[in-house]
Amino acid sequence: MKKIKVALIGMGNCAKSLVEGVQYYNENPGDDVGLMYPSIGGYTAHDIEFVCGFDVDVRKVNKPFAEALRALPNCAMHHVEAITTGEKHSSIVKDAFVYAGPTLDGVASYMNDFPEEVSFRTGSASALTSQEVVAVLKKHHVDVLVNYLPVGSEEATRFYLDAAIVAGVHFINCIPTLISTHDAMRVEQRFIDAGLTIVGSDMRSAWGASRLSEVLQGAMLDSGLQVTQHIQMNMAAGSTQGQENIRTGRTANTDFLNMAKPERLQSKHVSKENVLKGQNTVRDASTAGMTLYAGPSLTVQQKPGGRYVGSDNKIANLDIVAYGFAGARYEFSARLSVQDSPNSGGVVVSAIRFCKVASELGIVGYLRGASAWTQKTPPVQMTTSDAKFECDALARRELTNMTRGQLKENRPIAEALPYSIQGNVLDYV
Ligand SMILES: NC(=O)c1ccc[n+]([C@@H]2O[C@H](COP(=O)([O-])OP(=O)(O)OC[C@H]3O[C@@H](n4cnc5c(N)ncnc54)[C@H](O)[C@@H]3O)[C@@H](O)[C@H]2O)c1
Repeated sequence: MKKIKVALIGMGNCAKSLVEGVQYYNENPGDDVGLMYPSIGGYTAHDIEFVCGFDVDVRKVNKPFAEALRALPNCAMHHVEAITTGEKHSSIVKDAFVYAGPTLDGVASYMNDFPEEVSFRTGSASALTSQEVVAVLKKHHVDVLVNYLPVGSEEATRFYLDAAIVAGVHFINCIPTLISTHDAMRVEQRFIDAGLTIVGSDMRSAWGASRLSEVLQGAMLDSGLQVTQHIQMNMAAGSTQGQENIRTGRTANTDFLNMAKPERLQSKHVSKENVLKGQNTVRDASTAGMTLYAGPSLTVQQKPGGRYVGSDNKIANLDIVAYGFAGARYEFSARLSVQDSPNSGGVVVSAIRFCKVASELGIVGYLRGASAWTQKTPPVQMTTSDAKFECDALARRELTNMTRGQLKENRPIAEALPYSIQGNVLDYV
């Protein structure tokens, strides 16, 4: 089987975790803990290789790929001692390089107000044009382009999305852009016409707050309860078990810092709440009058001078109220503490292989099952078990009623495919 060649937009913490994670699995071939799908249509994590990246930070652009991933302000835990390139267990090909892309709306205006150890720093490197990005993608024979830009990067996402379509590259949109039904339909038709697949939008973690909220919300509704309140508060802060050697406090990673001000976090907030509302939508359960809140809620900043590596911790607090049999009240609260970025590696390592296998089967457009399983705002929300059913079928290289309707030979029309239709930007109908 040929390797799946992957390019990354945004060489931040999620990029670091994914690339180091694949090297980790290469170095430990007997270990498949953390991989939801050890094999997807015959492709394993070992079949993924990273060929190039795009960024804007002066410490990352025009640098070797591995060097950029270990540069500040990245602070995610190390999964391997050293990131290697072009060697037996490497996940990065020899001479992989980080190109300077255009900044557009990628960097929040207030980033310069924070110390450079925890924030972005852009410089004067001359940026590639759209045609040059297309040429780079073609030169490296990229199969899949993964979007890891900061939340709020609407323009920058469209820039790379356009380049992917022209270059004939599958796209994984890990951030909350293109989350309106209208946007998704428009984009899907372009991918269908180009014979490409897309997964999106806004990745969820393998076992993060979104999965936990989704499963709890779905299970309560399936048990006949009415969920009147589901609040999911997320904090970028908190000490981490197993890394007791780090004695300084904990900082917010740049993902949270980027969302410290409301101007950048709106799309994430909507997308996180879509997870909750989506579970009502697929069961025809009204959300009218309910308190369903999910958001990046608190960014705690570490005082300069601490150790940053491994400080990528995130805590979610859940508070749920429901009513059941003959008006009986239920209350549920939970706290989940995770390493934020590695948690996302666990889904992207699957999403990449879903794109490859689906395209080999002749499927085009949004991968609905893979999007519902790996993203917060998929084109169509599904129950957890339906999403898993679709992914399991793809992993066995089997078509389902859903994917059969998306075979290239049937020339699908986006508008006729299943969608969770929004009444407005905040709510599904
Ligand atoms: N578990 C998770 O960590 C998780 C879950 C869901 C979604 N996400 C989303 O994934 C995205 C990436 O998260 P992260 O933690 O890696 O973020 P990060 O802040 O660590 O990395 C973002 C990278 O993008 C670069 N960048 C900024 N503007 C750019 C531009 N115009 N072109 C190219 N590069 C640019 C930055 O320099 C930085 O290297 C975020 O949008 C985040 O919300 C993360």
